[in-house]
Amino acid sequence: MEKYLISLVANRKSKDGSILAKIFDFKEEMVKHEMSSYNIYKKNPFITSCDRQVKYFDRHQSKERTAIMFGSNSYLGLSNSNYVINKSIECIKKFGVGSGGVPLLTGTTIIQNELESSISTLTGFEDSILFTSGYCANLGMVSGLLGPENLIVHDKLNHASLLDGTVLSGAKMLRFKHNDLNNLEKILKENISKYPGGILVVTDGVFSMNGDIADIPAILNIVRKYNCLLAIDDAHATGVIGEKGAGTLSHFNIDYSNDIILTGCLSKALGVVGGFISASQEIIDYLRVYSRSNMFSTSLPPGDCASALASIELIKTTDVVECLRTNSNYLRRELAKNGFNILNSLTAIIPVIIGDDLKTSLISKDALDLGLVVNPIFTPAVPPNSSRLRISVMATHTKNDLDTLVSVLINLFNKYEIQRG
Ligand SMILES: Cc1ncc(COP(=O)(O)O)c(C=O)c1O
Repeated sequence: MEKYLISLVANRKSKDGSILAKIFDFKEEMVKHEMSSYNIYKKNPFITSCDRQVKYFDRHQSKERTAIMFGSNSYLGLSNSNYVINKSIECIKKFGVGSGGVPLLTGTTIIQNELESSISTLTGFEDSILFTSGYCANLGMVSGLLGPENLIVHDKLNHASLLDGTVLSGAKMLRFKHNDLNNLEKILKENISKYPGGILVVTDGVFSMNGDIADIPAILNIVRKYNCLLAIDDAHATGVIGEKGAGTLSHFNIDYSNDIILTGCLSKALGVVGGFISASQEIIDYLRVYSRSNMFSTSLPPGDCASALASIELIKTTDVVECLRTNSNYLRRELAKNGFNILNSLTAIIPVIIGDDLKTSLISKDALDLGLVVNPIFTPAVPPNSSRLRISVMATHTKNDLDTLVSVLINLFNKYEIQRG
């Protein structure tokens, strides 16, 4: 049967602009895709938590199967820690499962306050504000701070939530080539007189599809030269890089200051759900009122706050971050030694570049049949012709898991005649 891939390149349009026609066109494509027996959009649901080892229901063979997880953002394995789970249960028994209100009305308990303080201690900022997701934190940060009178300058690989926040804000947007400081400086030089004091430069700390780290010291120098502000999205850095997982600023030994705003996730290494912004007291006070995805949305449930608090405690008091680093470094070394192109990954996210969409999806499917969950990533999540496997390392992986992954990938690259490197 011919393999059928759905085009995701642009937002779909129907010939006459009809909304329903667009939806039915998509449905036709989805049916062809499903019939080609390797549907990559409707997933095999997991029937256990996303720990190191998972069970899932194979939709095509109608049976339960087991696999090693290499696709979870719960890098530290904390979503399954008994300590974290028990803290959450204790809290739910006391405070219930929902917060029952938006933060500025009745949605703030002492647990949300404790979590905001704990995040501020971890990130090294004066104060922090919680959101129900990292997506909402980015939306609220950009749209809360900027308006049509401002310019926002993005790294080209920034996360979609930062771009969506930009649309909401009405700010003018320009993008610099990924981690290209000359390009960033050129943009600021050309635009500074048009937006005096009104430019925000935004970058991911750790890039979600490449696993590389933004050159924050150099970016900050340029930002300060032109008197702009810098926002860093630490979604994949919190709990992963820096002293005891404190994130990108700690990784570079940079202290908090008034011209830096940090966003982060409780949903990745901390293993729970939610997002945050850390910044100076004045900026956080402002955002509590002007960040609409916080102000107009029911606050994070107390049980989730208790879990995130427990995760931060474990990050500080155990060697879990160090285990993740050891595993990531080992896998990176082994993949590089065997000639795979892993770009400039330095973190728990290791891309293995393939470049061909069909082969990428076939390898991901074959890997699953061999007992390994490895996410295939295509455009628009990554630039055209750079489809890849996005491997997420966990602190809980064993050396045998990592060695098995490398040997399976070698065999599958040979099977599909893909050049390594
Ligand atoms: C870089 C980055 N920022 C923000 C987010 C959004 O985080 P959340 O899943 O908590 O909404 C993600 C999620 O994948 C991400 O990769």
